[in-house]
Amino acid sequence: MKIVKTSAFTDQKPGTSGLRKQTTHFQQSHYLENFVQSIFNAMGDCQGKTLVVGGDGRFLNRTAIQTIIKIAAANGFTRLLVGQNGILSTPAASLLIRKYKKTDGGIILSASHNPGGINGDFGIKYNTPNGGPAPEKVTEAIYQHTLNISQYQISECDDVDLSKIGETQCDDLTIEIIDSVKDYADMMQEIYDFDLMQKQIKQKSLSLCFDAMHAVTGPYAKEIFINRLGLEPSLVINATPLEDFGGGHPDPNQAHAHELMQIMNADNAPDLGAASDGDGDRNMILGKNFFVTPSDSLAVMAANITQINGYANGISGVARSMPTSQAVDKVANKIGIPCYETPTGWKFFGNLLDADKISLCGEESFGTGSNHIREKDGIWAVLFWLNLLAIKQQSVENIVTDHWQTFGRHYYSRHDYEGIDSDAANQLMAALREKLAGLKSKQFSGFTVNDALDFSYTDPVDQSVSEKQGIIIRLAPDARIIYRLSGTGTQGATLRVYLEQYEADTAKQALETAEVLKPLAELSKSIAEISERTGRDKADVIT
Ligand code: G1P
Ligand code: ZN
Repeated sequence: MKIVKTSAFTDQKPGTSGLRKQTTHFQQSHYLENFVQSIFNAMGDCQGKTLVVGGDGRFLNRTAIQTIIKIAAANGFTRLLVGQNGILSTPAASLLIRKYKKTDGGIILSASHNPGGINGDFGIKYNTPNGGPAPEKVTEAIYQHTLNISQYQISECDDVDLSKIGETQCDDLTIEIIDSVKDYADMMQEIYDFDLMQKQIKQKSLSLCFDAMHAVTGPYAKEIFINRLGLEPSLVINATPLEDFGGGHPDPNQAHAHELMQIMNADNAPDLGAASDGDGDRNMILGKNFFVTPSDSLAVMAANITQINGYANGISGVARSMPTSQAVDKVANKIGIPCYETPTGWKFFGNLLDADKISLCGEESFGTGSNHIREKDGIWAVLFWLNLLAIKQQSVENIVTDHWQTFGRHYYSRHDYEGIDSDAANQLMAALREKLAGLKSKQFSGFTVNDALDFSYTDPVDQSVSEKQGIIIRLAPDARIIYRLSGTGTQGATLRVYLEQYEADTAKQALETAEVLKPLAELSKSIAEISERTGRDKADVIT
């Protein structure tokens, strides 16, 4: 073991989901070591502790794991559970942390849906023993350590072979290399009706095309969809994890999952199309020539959840992040269960799930999950839809349009202005905050402002308060515009503008989203002076 003198980095403040930077930034000497040692310092006495470690397979994944192993050994950990070849999807890591009860949390290496490779991004985050992303008080403690650190301890043991299942050593630390997929696949089989799905897949009355986007879900999808459910292998595409995700952007949305979009828009499209992101926690759901917004997906799940084996006894409540559309609120209202509105980021759902205040939750950013783990879960969401299709024997489109007829439709879209100047972005938000009071009752063409506020959240479980979580403009008739700055970008700032318009009239539910939301989009630009302040006339990505 050696002690290495180091000095603090001041930029190791975790964002919405961990510390995320360009890969080359992580390659600076001592950078990763400092952060890992800071996590351990924040954990207190590490003697005898156990951790789960794995990542999404992107460039630096395995090198980072070797470093974590050596620092863990030098800090007194006695056991690490590491996914074979360093692979663990984020949901699988969450499951393992929870399943092997004696763990003290886990370290997940991923920059989620951000591109990977030497020119892409890398990331690291600490999950607590409940399996969920560390809450703000923990990430803040880690950050404080990064500012004060002066040394780290690291073992001089040899690199460990990550490819062989079984136990190996680094000094007194035992490293158990485990199957990355099995526990996760077993859990899915407990929640869903695999027999029903398998039967229909075999009879060719049910089909799915799944796009792993060259990222971590490939091995999971092969085991679950092909080996256990009998899907034709050619229907699981881009299923080998690559260090640079094949040069692609592993974000499951209509803009990035080109190949899948083509398949689903063709004449002979399968019943369900789905994709997941870099680390396997996001999902996109498609029908034949039909896109399901993540907000609608959450609402449909809530409305149908008791039909799924794993939730047959009902659910305690639901939650959505503030910018997610209010479609699920309507369902909760009808079933008579609570619906919580949390700030953006999965970590806010953890307390609600632990306290059994909710059983299902989701975000507009292609994230849905339940109380089975403490992360959002891509493959779980795909299986939910596949199981629902098997039960209902209806198309995806029919299920969603039926849902709208019952609950009304929330037209919804997110407009991202990416890589804008950070100062300009901060000034835009500050200027908006300044004018909130003056906006109330103001009339614009077609809309009246009902309310304009800066979202603040008090956690109902531990009463912790999170302020300045985004600007909400509530408008009559029944619309919202929301503004916030991304916490996951690595270059400049990203302004996210979320647009939502409710339509209860069934005769007006089949219109083009872009058309319906056009007036709101224009209004969102003028209220925040987007062109004037950022020099941008239109959003870079619209989802
Ligand atoms: C984005 C999403 C957010 C999600 C996070 C991690 O964060 O908007 O919902 O929890 O990625 O996947 P943002 O960049 O908006 O801070
Ligand atoms: Zn992700």
